[in-house]
Amino acid sequence: MTAPTIDATVPQERRLVSEVPGPASRSLMARKLAAVAAGVGTTLPVFATRAGGGIVVDVDGNHLIDLGSGIAVTTVGASAPRVVGAVQEQAAAFTHTCFMVTPYEGYVAVAEALNRLTPGDHEKRTALFNSGAEAVENAVKIARAHTGRQAVVVFDHAYHGRTNLTMAMTAKNMPYKHGFGPFASEVYRAPLSYPYRDGDTDGVVAALRAIDVIEKQVGAANLAAVVIEPIQGEGGFIEPAAGFLPALASWCRDNGVVFVADEVQTGFARTGDMFACNREGVVPDLIVTAKGIAGGLPLSAVTGRADVMDAAHVGGLGGTYGGNPLACAAALAAIETIEAENLVARAREIEAVVLDRLRRIEARDARIGDVRGRGAMLAVELVHAGTDVPDPELAKAVAAAAHRQGVIVLTCGTHGNVLRFLPPLSISDELLHDAFDVLAATFEVTR
Ligand SMILES: Cc1ncc(COP(=O)(O)O)c(C=O)c1O
Repeated sequence: MTAPTIDATVPQERRLVSEVPGPASRSLMARKLAAVAAGVGTTLPVFATRAGGGIVVDVDGNHLIDLGSGIAVTTVGASAPRVVGAVQEQAAAFTHTCFMVTPYEGYVAVAEALNRLTPGDHEKRTALFNSGAEAVENAVKIARAHTGRQAVVVFDHAYHGRTNLTMAMTAKNMPYKHGFGPFASEVYRAPLSYPYRDGDTDGVVAALRAIDVIEKQVGAANLAAVVIEPIQGEGGFIEPAAGFLPALASWCRDNGVVFVADEVQTGFARTGDMFACNREGVVPDLIVTAKGIAGGLPLSAVTGRADVMDAAHVGGLGGTYGGNPLACAAALAAIETIEAENLVARAREIEAVVLDRLRRIEARDARIGDVRGRGAMLAVELVHAGTDVPDPELAKAVAAAAHRQGVIVLTCGTHGNVLRFLPPLSISDELLHDAFDVLAATFEVTR
């Protein structure tokens, strides 16, 4: 395969020149605390100055290995040369006109690319927005317009965003929902397939359980959409058992319900397929994308069957910034990078390296309950040794120790007990091995 193009101005090695966080980051953190709303949290209190390849450089000059990609965004790297060049050129030409006022080609080209790349060869349409949550909301609006129905089904452990409707769709109370209600109505929750915890390796059985809840508690005739992450993100990188997604999609088709895949986190090569739905040949009616779509610029999309997408009346969809020209230029360059550098295959290579490292740690450590995920979206679920009782304190301790040694890792999960690994696909194997040497040693010393 072609090697990823890494911005050579960011040296690709872990290098610590101060404690983490260092004095310059600590001083900026004091300013942050005085100026920024307390509700905006910080995972790792170092302030970035540069990033690229698999490295984030902080204001003290520390070079940290990036296993987070800014929460699954910088799939092509944080300074991918094509993205940087395209954004610079577009910024010099014009930054905004509003697509709804005087349109421009970039938006149309992104829509064409999404119509081509997303699962299914049927006729499609796309609408562009700014954030994942905004796109999820619009998918629901479109499904309601198409079906004339109101109810929306989501799943246990789901995460769909922080706006009012998407808070209702998100499962976890703290920190996403607590004290922020009342939430939008007509949102119902069904049981997920979670093989590590429900023991069901037959996804069809798990799907029948969910469908029973939907039929009894909502009623297909009231249901506009089923919205599901093909692999759950914030909820704990939960991959449903094989057969779950196809069975649900097929039930939706039989009942006139719009099947919406929220691929905000899983899309654009992240899971070793262009989209996670591809693995089982699932063709969603609507697919929601964001994060990895535009190399770090804010952009999101709803793409889907032309008859469903066109159900919303003229003027019913849009927004001032949706499909901003800079974000569209970045998206076209990010998509070109993914295709030219075959980053789908690179994600599978990363899976092989990281899964091997995680399984070797698991073999020595009974506190690892489960190793799971696909591509460059991998995780370990941590439990008290010999039980399946979640151990969020251990996840916190391992993440903090890794941070101090210059490795950026994130946690997730309804119980906060999952360590997740989301490296940019531009990371080298050397950096991956260095990061997992650090993590293996961290597991040893926390025992
Ligand atoms: C699956 C999924 N849907 C929606 C969202 C919300 O996206 P955003 O934070 O861009 O609003 C996220 C963000 O993490 C996500 O992972």
